[in-house]
Amino acid sequence: MTTPQRFQSIDGEELYRRLATGESVVILDVRTETEFQDRHIPGSTLVPLHELEGRLNELPNSSTPIALVCQHGQRGAAACKFLAEHGFSPLLNLEGGIEAWPGPLTTGAHNGNHHHGIAPSSFLLESFELLPRGLTLDIAMGEGRNAIYLASRGFDVDGVDADPQAVSRARAAARKLGVPIRAVVGNLEDGTYIIPIETYDVIVCFNYLHRPLFQDIRSGLVPGGVVVYQTFTHEQPQFGRPNNPEHLLQPGELKKAFSGYEILRYRERIGPARQTGKMRAIAGIVARKPG
Ligand SMILES: C[S@@+](CC[C@H](N)C(=O)[O-])C[C@H]1O[C@@H](n2cnc3c(N)ncnc32)[C@H](O)[C@@H]1O
Repeated sequence: MTTPQRFQSIDGEELYRRLATGESVVILDVRTETEFQDRHIPGSTLVPLHELEGRLNELPNSSTPIALVCQHGQRGAAACKFLAEHGFSPLLNLEGGIEAWPGPLTTGAHNGNHHHGIAPSSFLLESFELLPRGLTLDIAMGEGRNAIYLASRGFDVDGVDADPQAVSRARAAARKLGVPIRAVVGNLEDGTYIIPIETYDVIVCFNYLHRPLFQDIRSGLVPGGVVVYQTFTHEQPQFGRPNNPEHLLQPGELKKAFSGYEILRYRERIGPARQTGKMRAIAGIVARKPG
């Protein structure tokens, strides 16, 4: 009798689509530190194959799928077999390994990396049902993970960022995934990009703070429009960057910034990021403009 295979292969296109559209998947890279530093999938965790046995307690003990990544697929398959024997499930092996990955890659050490990954913000995922469907603006969109997620869910999305490379990566990712976004290069701090008045049903901003924009967001929303804002608080420097007080929220600051709005959701917390497990101090708000 043959033993049934207790893991599945997944091709790169499918894994990329699942991550970008907000499915929860843990990406576990089982290559060496050197290979990982050379290039890896943003948001992935490194546990080299030979260390796996001693580090099983670091893996999620839940029903969240774990996708195994190596260079060409063989070490990933070995890791899948090993994890299946230890009761982990569901397990996915990236077919062809990193060589067959169609999405963005990043470089550098695990802990020195500030890439926000491919998956949308968990705060956005959890707030999704509170958002009116319609015209949406993602400010300081970076490589567009949140804009792409919202577009994949049927929102009509504009995005702006000052970094031309980030904007062109966002456009390329949206094209690859077949979701339309309008991404423009624009500076939100020097007056060259201005949020148009009473235009957007939803404005989102993640991991960026420029206080004068609070007023611009307020005026850019249509009556009944919703803002989703999440970024780091003054308690963040104990865990790393950002550490410039100008870029860190004070206690309760988002509530004050959107005073007069209906607060649909608010949180201030210190805890591990869903994707990377790194500790961080953040505050987030979802608030509706009166009207
Ligand atoms: C930490 S990243 C966050 C990216 C994205 N919101 C996310 O969470 O994945 C901050 C972004 O702010 C952008 N940024 C910084 N200063 C800016 C400015 N003056 N105008 C527009 N974008 C700016 C950066 O280029 C960068 O992409």
